[in-house]
Amino acid sequence: MKVKVSRKAHFNAAHRLYRSDWSFEKNDQVFGKCNNPNFHGHNYELIVSVYGEIDQETGFVIDMKVLKDLIAVEIESAFDHKNLNVEVAAFKNLNPTAENIAVVIWNKLRPHIDDEKKLEITLYETPRNFVTYSGE
Ligand code: NI
Repeated sequence: MKVKVSRKAHFNAAHRLYRSDWSFEKNDQVFGKCNNPNFHGHNYELIVSVYGEIDQETGFVIDMKVLKDLIAVEIESAFDHKNLNVEVAAFKNLNPTAENIAVVIWNKLRPHIDDEKKLEITLYETPRNFVTYSGE
């Protein structure tokens, strides 16, 4: 039996969407208010899901305590109350859109999850805007 288990987490972070190889006008046209040179913040809601077989001994797909600690160490401590563009190396040359943040989170967590289990990241940038990445 395969089950998908999910853990919710949260972080606040600032970002700016822009390309340094574009003019301010072009950045403004494409990214609008998100191109504010003084950055702006979001309350990101994160859902980390692991899908796989239930372990017959423990009854778990993954120990939620382990997942909770993994998210705290790998994601919350790295992103919470940070300026993503300035303070998180992964976004030095990568626009910190919700899409790209989800991919970065997936890449950080994937090595810590059993190979035979699927990992899915859902990231809410606002209560109405969210993205999902599952490694494809
Ligand atoms: Ni934004």
